[in-house]
Amino acid sequence: MGEERGHFSSRLGFILAASGSAVGLGNIWRFPYITAENGGGIFVLIYIVFVATVGLSVMLVELTIGRHAESNPVGALRKVAPGALSSLGYLFVFTGIAILSYYGVVAGWTVGYLVKSVFGELDADSFGGFIQNPTLQISYLAFFILITTGVVYFGVKEGIEKMSTILMPILLLLLIALIARGLFLPTAAEGLKFYLVPDFDKVSVKTFLYAVGQAFFSLSLGMGAMITYGSYIEKKENLLTCASSVVFFDTLVAFLAGLLIFPVVGGVIEKGGPTLVFVTLIKIFHDMPGGQIIAIVFFLLLAIAALTSTVSLHEVATAYLVDERKLNRHIAVWLVGGITLLLGIPSALSLGAVKWLSGLLGKGFLGIMDFVFGNIALTFGAMMLCIIAAYKWRLKNAVKEIEIGFPNFGKYKNIWGFFVSYISPLAIALMLIYVLITGEGLG
Ligand code: TRP
Repeated sequence: MGEERGHFSSRLGFILAASGSAVGLGNIWRFPYITAENGGGIFVLIYIVFVATVGLSVMLVELTIGRHAESNPVGALRKVAPGALSSLGYLFVFTGIAILSYYGVVAGWTVGYLVKSVFGELDADSFGGFIQNPTLQISYLAFFILITTGVVYFGVKEGIEKMSTILMPILLLLLIALIARGLFLPTAAEGLKFYLVPDFDKVSVKTFLYAVGQAFFSLSLGMGAMITYGSYIEKKENLLTCASSVVFFDTLVAFLAGLLIFPVVGGVIEKGGPTLVFVTLIKIFHDMPGGQIIAIVFFLLLAIAALTSTVSLHEVATAYLVDERKLNRHIAVWLVGGITLLLGIPSALSLGAVKWLSGLLGKGFLGIMDFVFGNIALTFGAMMLCIIAAYKWRLKNAVKEIEIGFPNFGKYKNIWGFFVSYISPLAIALMLIYVLITGEGLG
């Protein structure tokens, strides 16, 4: 006796939940510093082109596979790619847990900094001490995993969709309010120029490769999160509209995040990575009238963005345990939460608390996890999904699935097919080869 699988209650419900998955630390924290490191405006331009082409085509592949199979990634791949290829599903489920484990650490920082800003304890020099404190790191990680598990516990409609419906509009409002404040700073003009005016001399192979890597991470592609969310879309829905809305919204928020950060830092970002938000920005908030309120709003924004993303990573493994292992959802969520927390502990301790974990292979444990799962596994996964859709399941079957809710898809099918069969897998393969040769952790 199978339990009834959940569904999103409407198209808007899906769009908000899936956009919630896509919009995360990747947009607000990672996108601005990757942009800064890769030449500003020119990177933004290339990124947008990638997202609208390769990103959108892979998004439609994932949603279509998911809705067709009405299943988690393991079940879905078994259906569209029976045989050896279907074991990819297990990699996807594990990748979700792995990303969640270290993403939860950074998500924990946002809560830590929210607490600090509420108590007026923000200062730019405390970051080092904070990330090296084992008790704080593990507590905030555990707290974030706990909240995530709590939301997923209530299911797709009552948990994830409901939360996203409330939080996503708040996120957008907070973001716009902060942008409005930042644009009046004396540094704004310089920052905007760097961000918005493309300098074509700054293009290199790296610019393109970073754009692809950032696109998959930001859109939550390459590990079946969108297969899983796609499995909760009703058959009557138009999948192309669903896919384009999520891609549009995710890119809009990334763009707005840049519009917030660059005017504040004035286009000069010496060091990227964690320091951009947790040190550089703090310094500026500290010296600004009303800076405490702005800091509170900003870290609230980051925490919200992170939470709507972590639930999607959690949901993939939960859906697997429920669909395939027939576990009760209320048990499955705690199992996933527990495993994730255990796996996250070495990451939490790898920022200075434990020496050998921090220095591992020059990247530290968290850095290695991000490199292996946040970069390589996602990129590889996205490429395999294109290959499976084009050459194993076959595009005509995918098109049939899309046409159930969108009979006029015919107009778009050739261009989509061209991207799925050739452009996207090739672009991705190129990037993978680059990463494997140079060993660069794409941001
Ligand atoms: N897209 C999210 C962000 O930008 C992170 C994320 C959530 C994710 N689910 C994912 C990344 C699935 C890859 C795969 O922060």
